Amino acid sequence: MSKNVLVVGGCGYIGSHCVRLLKQKGFNPVVLDNLIFGHREALPKDVVFFHGDLGDVELVSKILSSENIEVVMHFAAFAFVGESVEKPLKYYSNNVEKTIRLLQAMRDCCVRKFIFSSSCATFGTPDELPIHELTPQAPINPYGQSKLMVETILKDLAEAGQMSSAVFRYFNAAGASPDAEIGESHDPETHLIPLAIDAATGRRKSLKVFGTDYPTPDGTCLRDYVHVDDLSLAHILVIDKMVESSGFIDYNLGTGRPCSVKEVLDTVELVTRLKVPYENASRRQGDPPLLFADSSKARTELGWDPEHVDIKNIIETAWEWHKKYPSGYDDFVQHQ
Ligand code: UFG
Repeated sequence: MSKNVLVVGGCGYIGSHCVRLLKQKGFNPVVLDNLIFGHREALPKDVVFFHGDLGDVELVSKILSSENIEVVMHFAAFAFVGESVEKPLKYYSNNVEKTIRLLQAMRDCCVRKFIFSSSCATFGTPDELPIHELTPQAPINPYGQSKLMVETILKDLAEAGQMSSAVFRYFNAAGASPDAEIGESHDPETHLIPLAIDAATGRRKSLKVFGTDYPTPDGTCLRDYVHVDDLSLAHILVIDKMVESSGFIDYNLGTGRPCSVKEVLDTVELVTRLKVPYENASRRQGDPPLLFADSSKARTELGWDPEHVDIKNIIETAWEWHKKYPSGYDDFVQHQ
């Protein structure tokens, strides 16, 4: 088997961490990214890069053939839950329609191994916790729905013997590479940890805590924050499994340790030694009170053993990245 992996969306937050790990583990990542949200600077300089869109069948087919690609990893999606509620077609078009075109190009080029980034958003507000792979999926927004639609397509393709797929449902991706070389840099930023760090350092005036009246111990939502390098590791481990067996496999990826919004803010204060100014605000629409994963399937079948299970450790990596590049990749360019 060739070790050539096409990483679609490889300049994004999770994709870029995966590219670095692929290289470290002896694979040859080739990246396709349209750079709408991705950062070219997040890639090691010697990685082959194509600037283009995943929905461009001609371009993708050319890359698959010329680069002798064996496996495709797909990280490229629009992922702002609130925006997906306002602009559903934008999400279905990018996340579903273009993924179908990517799969068509793969079919045309006889590339049959696909690793897909799905989300805990496919579960909506689940009745049972922790969330395992058999927990019923009932998304409550178009973003989660778009991910579930692709999962369904992948199951059908596996059933038809046309594609083997591994689906990873990420819980809350967080942190940065421990050497602080790459990290989280979204525009606009909506995620709790980078927002809290920005509030602590004065780059933002304050942070709104969305909801303090949830049926949780401190009244704020609990989430399962999982380090971006640990997510990446699962992608490497599953490649070996896909060589041994075909079909559809799915894994929920989280640490299984729920952490509240208030606990995150306290930990940001502990790590940065700065005060996080915040105000209590009303609930954000569509936020489930509590989400955390049962990842025993990934642990048992893949030998996945996340290294960064402590929220303090995860936030420390985000803080080191922030200290080095306070404006994210804008600073990075000046640093080089
Ligand atoms: N939060 C605040 N204030 C903020 C931002 C977030 O209180 O300014 C709270 C949210 O209400 C939530 C928690 O912090 O309780 C985490 O919020 P994030 O926006 O960081 O992450 P989400 O849990 O909303 O989103 C994550 C992924 C999405 C995925 C979703 C599924 O980033 O891609 O989980 O629920 F769709």
